[in-house]
Amino acid sequence: MATERTLSIIKPDGVEKGIIGKIVSRFESNGLKPIALRLTHLSKREAEGFYAVHKARPFFNDLVTFMTGGPVVLMVLEGENAVLKNREIMGATDPKKAAEGTIRKDFATDIEKNTVHGSDSAENARVEISYFFPEVQVHAYDWKKLT
Ligand code: RTP
Ligand code: MG
Repeated sequence: MATERTLSIIKPDGVEKGIIGKIVSRFESNGLKPIALRLTHLSKREAEGFYAVHKARPFFNDLVTFMTGGPVVLMVLEGENAVLKNREIMGATDPKKAAEGTIRKDFATDIEKNTVHGSDSAENARVEISYFFPEVQVHAYDWKKLT
């Protein structure tokens, strides 16, 4: 298995619900380490750029309005199979369809206010990480060097 990195966002509804700690804890207890993390309020331009792949979708404007409606937490998670593992921990886009024990099943309000974002492929993870954390290098971090 490969050590990977993925981008996670705690969306405005997650920050509003006061569950930043609970969400980060789920990642950490499943072997995903936050190696970069910041709380910010996305501008319209940042949100539109981030979700540019969804530009033609009917929900695009609502999605940008939602994502800019309050602060978010941006994180780079690192671990074995981080991209897929993060998606498993998050659960399905629509919380009604999300599996038991997933973040979206436990905390999301609906398909839009679904608490977390996660990159959906290793390639998109690289693009998304460099979009918000251009300073984070793409190679795997050597944790042993920290201790
Ligand atoms: P995300 O990108 O946020 O991790 O979510 P995802 O991969 O599970 O879902 P995606 O298809 O990429 O959709 C991005 C976000 O757009 C909102 N959405 N609303 N109203 C709707 O039908 C609808 N469909 C998608 C959700 O916030 C979704 O997470
Ligand atoms: Mg997506």
